Amino acid sequence: MVDLRLAVAADIPTLERWEAAAHVVAISGDDEPWDWSVEIDVPWQEVWIAEVEGRGIGVVVLLDAHAEPSGYWGDVSPGTYAIDIWIGEPDALHRGYGTLMMRHALDRAFSEHDAQEILIDPLETNTDAIGFYKHLGFMEVGPRRFGTDDCLVLQMDRPARL
Ligand SMILES: CC(C)(COP(=O)(O)OP(=O)(O)OC[C@H]1O[C@@H](n2cnc3c(N)ncnc32)[C@H](O)[C@@H]1OP(=O)(O)O)[C@@H](O)C(=O)NCCC(=O)NCCS
Repeated sequence: MVDLRLAVAADIPTLERWEAAAHVVAISGDDEPWDWSVEIDVPWQEVWIAEVEGRGIGVVVLLDAHAEPSGYWGDVSPGTYAIDIWIGEPDALHRGYGTLMMRHALDRAFSEHDAQEILIDPLETNTDAIGFYKHLGFMEVGPRRFGTDDCLVLQMDRPARL
């Protein structure tokens, strides 16, 4: 069982530690490090901490890709959301928690935010995560370079009946 709660300032050291974990660095590419004091506070994004029996294990970030001011995703339609996820505690990997974290973020996107489509951009080399996303129902859009990172964009459309 995984509980999800919004991140608060007291979570910042943990978020920084997870971001620096070897298995997270390995899949992070050359993006700038996250400035968590800003990330947890912006209105177009939700930063969710996943907890198992009261212990934080990872983070899932849901953001409005149309409203996000840097234009990272390019010229996307209103209703386009994006998700970032990682489990920071190595002993919590591959136990089904990531699936529950994604379900939470997908549910928020489609039910609370009326998202029309959700995008994900794993590094092309992160074949485990790509398999995980496809298993959840994401469809391959194609390769795309973000900065110096070669990524594979995947997309999930809003289910017909919601
Ligand atoms: C990617 C990540 C969030 C997945 O979370 P997880 O808890 O480890 O994954 P789960 O245990 O929930 O796996 C769920 C399902 O996906 C499937 N799956 C996982 N990897 C897969 C793969 N390579 N190919 C096919 N299916 C895969 C599993 O078989 C499992 O299915 P099952 O429940 O029917 O057995 C997690 O592994 C992680 O944080 N990895 C490091 C950081 C990372 O890569 N983040 C993504 C950046 S884009």
